[in-house]
Amino acid sequence: MSDTTVEQSVFVRACHGESVPHVPVWFMRQAGRSLPEYRSIRSGTPMLEACRRPDLVCEITLQPVRRHSVDAAVLFSDIVVPLAAAGVDLDIKPGVGPVIANPIRDAAGVAALPSLEPDAVEFVAEAVRLLIPALAGTPLIGFAGAPFTLASYLIEGGPSRTYERTKALMHGAPDVWHALCSRLAEITLAFLRVQVSAGVSAVQLFDSWAGALSEADYRRFVMPHSAAVLSGLADAGVPRIHFGVGTAHLLPAMAEAGADVMGVDWRTPLDTAAALVGPDRAVQGNLDPAILFAPWPVIEAEVRRIVSEGRSAHGHVFNLGHGVPPDTDPEVLTRVVKLVHEVSAV
Ligand code: CP3
Repeated sequence: MSDTTVEQSVFVRACHGESVPHVPVWFMRQAGRSLPEYRSIRSGTPMLEACRRPDLVCEITLQPVRRHSVDAAVLFSDIVVPLAAAGVDLDIKPGVGPVIANPIRDAAGVAALPSLEPDAVEFVAEAVRLLIPALAGTPLIGFAGAPFTLASYLIEGGPSRTYERTKALMHGAPDVWHALCSRLAEITLAFLRVQVSAGVSAVQLFDSWAGALSEADYRRFVMPHSAAVLSGLADAGVPRIHFGVGTAHLLPAMAEAGADVMGVDWRTPLDTAAALVGPDRAVQGNLDPAILFAPWPVIEAEVRRIVSEGRSAHGHVFNLGHGVPPDTDPEVLTRVVKLVHEVSAV
């Protein structure tokens, strides 16, 4: 199908706040362990290796589209893929997440952070080029980690709940902090540009853990770097989605950083979020992933509430408030897609 078809897709139109025949749906982490076909194809292949194989990336990205009839595909990859491709020694440990061999904690560590040559992520461009014809008109979302969330992994050395070392560096050595985030913004922008050039229809910038910051710290230490990434894509012609967890207090600032669509977690009703992000931005979200384990009538009531609250926004893309939990029953996700389409049909 032609590019025109993708540009006119319900998903892309909703991102632009245009009127649509139904609310589009996709799920963060829709490709993953909730699907038996994913567990089977991934068995024996480490995560980073799977991300480097265009044939596997293509198949895994298509699996949830086939099964759930979602309105968009999301590229199977990870936020640390561009760091690994640039030469950072890291691994993705099952059940843990990214683990960094030599955490960055000083100016020397920042100086040693390699840049990302587009050739180093050619495997991603190749996967996108395989996917576009295979998706037959379903839009493909590319993504990257935002400077703060990437920096938190690089500084802490792995996942953290308190971000002590990250915040200590940010406040204790602001020059080192800003130098690190400037380098990460360059890597992220280069990575997203590769995906856009290869043909993705939208991009999502994941600042998953930014909610750990006060608004003042976000504006001072993080926003300029995320804004550099998002403004670097202003001419790319694709919607830019910006997402974090626990960010009710940051929604206006994260929107101002340059997003067309603000991702919202389950803690903030979409009508409240829509008022916070301003009149020209769409919202994405925000079913609590834990609700997927409740009886169906509970899920149905929540979906109806969210679709109704999303009507006041300048465009609504239905999603969860965070990723699909690995032990979700995939049949529930399929039912949610169908229900959103039904209750939002105009
Ligand atoms: O949404 C999708 O379907 C696309 C795939 C996707 C993955 N990672 C695949 C993945 C996306 C969008 C990401 C982004 C990502 N990775 C984020 C931002 C999104 C978010 O959840 O807030 C973050 C913080 C990471 C870092 C990371 N990578 C974590 C926390 C984990 C989970 C660790 C675990 O095993 O529970 C990973 C690994 C990872 N990334 C998996 C998948 C499918 C699990 C690996 C496996 O199946 O073995």
